[in-house]
Amino acid sequence: MLGKLARQHDPNVLVGFDLADDAGVYQIAPDQALVQTVDFFTPVVDDPYTFGQIAATNALSDIYAMGGKPLTSLALVCFPDKADLEILERILAGGLSKMIEAGCTVIGGHSIRDQETKFGYAVTGLVHPNKILANGGAQPGDALILTKPLGTGVISTAIKNGKAEPAWIDAAVQSMTKLNKQAAELIGSREYRVHGMTDVTGFGLIGHAREMALASNVTLRILSKDIAILPGALECIRSGQVPGGLKANREFAECVVGYESAISDELKTLLFDPQTAGGLLISIAEGDCEQLVVEMQASGIPARSIGKVTESQKPLIRIY
Ligand code: CO
Ligand code: CO
Repeated sequence: MLGKLARQHDPNVLVGFDLADDAGVYQIAPDQALVQTVDFFTPVVDDPYTFGQIAATNALSDIYAMGGKPLTSLALVCFPDKADLEILERILAGGLSKMIEAGCTVIGGHSIRDQETKFGYAVTGLVHPNKILANGGAQPGDALILTKPLGTGVISTAIKNGKAEPAWIDAAVQSMTKLNKQAAELIGSREYRVHGMTDVTGFGLIGHAREMALASNVTLRILSKDIAILPGALECIRSGQVPGGLKANREFAECVVGYESAISDELKTLLFDPQTAGGLLISIAEGDCEQLVVEMQASGIPARSIGKVTESQKPLIRIY
């Protein structure tokens, strides 16, 4: 929608909305740029404190996905008139716990009355202009790493419908409350040749892979057997616990996908599952891939190498 409107021309905009990247980046000094993002949504779990943690983890993720460090945040609250304010306090406390873990200071916010609870943050971070990890940097010959399992969308839907088993909820919550901070710091800690990065969120793995492929003018080959899957996610799909957003993602993006081997329909469906606080999708020089995966796994990050980047061909995304 923004693209249909008149353009503002500002040479300090290093990353705008044109390439559907994770966050906007705005240069403020020769060696410094702001990274800005905003995200808020309705509860995905029943417990208010956990919901706050997930909303914060999700909002911070786009800063990490750009190679940035979060600095400050503003809370966004929509809350029903007659609801118990103690619930809102728990949501805010959960969010704050993750902001503290991220070293990101909450400096304000805004709240309005609304029939449905919604919560999230606008987050500002900093990045060196030469260290921006845009989604358009993937290069032929790179390997792809995904740092979290898929399935939070279908499991959240099962939670809403009272169909999720406790073990599935525990695993999904653990994943959705794990900051991408540690993964981003590992990338920055050594001379890893990471060329492009994004996080997998509302458009699902394929939707965000599509944006990376288009912005980088490359084709992505993804090995479906190497993708980590949350326990219960395929069961949720088999029993019809599929969010509306998943169907929309699939209708929008499946036209760029070629299925190059026999893949079950459940697994195909999962590739379009909208993720909340999903993992980082990293395009890295093939020679550095294994070491980064090993280092991440040793730190408790469930990262997997899931594919390769090639010269641009059709179909844009090939699933094996
Ligand atoms: Co993102
Ligand atoms: Co975002």
